[in-house]
Amino acid sequence: MTATWCLITLLTFIFGTAISQSNINVQNLYTFLFTTNNYNKLIRPSRNQSVPLSVHVIFTLYGISGVDEIEQKLTATGWLEVEWTDELLSWTPASYGGLRYIYYPQGEVWKPDISLQNGFSKLEELGSKFISVLVDSNGLVNWRPFQVFESKCDIDSTYFPFDKQTCHLDFVAWSLSSKDVHITQGRKRIELADDLHRHGEWKVLSSTALNLAETHKTKVRFTIVIQRKPLYAIMNYIMPILLLSILDVFTFKIRVGTGERIAYVITVWLAYAVFLTIISDSLPKTSESIPIVSIYIMIQIFIGTVIVIISAIESGCAHLSDDEPVYYLLRTFARKCRKRSVQSESEIPLCLDRDETCITWMEAISALDKILFWVCLTIFVLSTLISLLIAGLKNI
Ligand SMILES: *[C@@H]1O[C@H](CO)[C@@H](O)[C@H](O)[C@H]1NC(C)=O
Repeated sequence: MTATWCLITLLTFIFGTAISQSNINVQNLYTFLFTTNNYNKLIRPSRNQSVPLSVHVIFTLYGISGVDEIEQKLTATGWLEVEWTDELLSWTPASYGGLRYIYYPQGEVWKPDISLQNGFSKLEELGSKFISVLVDSNGLVNWRPFQVFESKCDIDSTYFPFDKQTCHLDFVAWSLSSKDVHITQGRKRIELADDLHRHGEWKVLSSTALNLAETHKTKVRFTIVIQRKPLYAIMNYIMPILLLSILDVFTFKIRVGTGERIAYVITVWLAYAVFLTIISDSLPKTSESIPIVSIYIMIQIFIGTVIVIISAIESGCAHLSDDEPVYYLLRTFARKCRKRSVQSESEIPLCLDRDETCITWMEAISALDKILFWVCLTIFVLSTLISLLIAGLKNI
């Protein structure tokens, strides 16, 4: 299309000086085309009506305005460049003072009823009344409707925030069949506007333009692949969750008896809860595909809750005297186990048998804490690594 514009400019430059047009020339041409020729915008502009008219479509993207996970919608701003030859709108420039092109309101000439087939809102005419088409003396019509296109798009946020989405924009001549018009793509991909408006969250990875033939229609499918920029989500959701989880694991390094343990663990748990309230608005809100990051946060909160419960039980036990009934029960059980193993293996120091107060509750609890610290740390590291591997590496 740029070529056409260049050509027009060049020709105007060359002939403009030699043959100059006056307003009378323009007026004569308008009268010739639309009054004398009796132009009817309802008639498809081919002299032979059994030959389908070729319409070329180019899509230029100006920017991505938004992606909606719940409504499964892509909002993109851009314009189409639709071109066809109107055999009824051609003239000899020499007869009109070298006039090579004119503008005419889009509603006053024949144009294909192209519209977005997988649109989100109601099917409507492209462009608007004030947009004009450019007609050149060969009858080539160039129409550039600018629009905010809202299309349906299957958004899969499983790999949030490392996800890629593929969206289609299907343009079809709604009422005209393939016997009347053939819609074809003008370029192999979507054109990106020079001053492409960059979106804060999404970047355009690639695009394609494809001709699709249905039974009675031809359509052009523009496919656009966009990728989420993960930095914001990493800094604002994932890092805080990681840090809180690490804090939670270190609960087991605090002594139970002092009473600080419960205060600490509850504070961390509350921080989780508050944090979740803050970020729940920003995570993809869909139940179609649960993002791995949500599952990860659920796991961390589950572990956090278990840690609170363990801490509560441990704090309770720390205040038990060593001759509580439960302790007796445990000791009897331990003794029985020991005796059984002694019969087979022998040589195991029988602490419980020799001295009734050999192990205190505090000692038992700190031993348990050591084990739990490593268990929780392992679960944390493993769950983090697995989530990262599944979500991150698949899409990087
Ligand atoms: C119109 O086009 C068809 C198919 O190309 C051809 O068979 C027919 O003769 C043409 N008619 C006229 C009037 O040129």
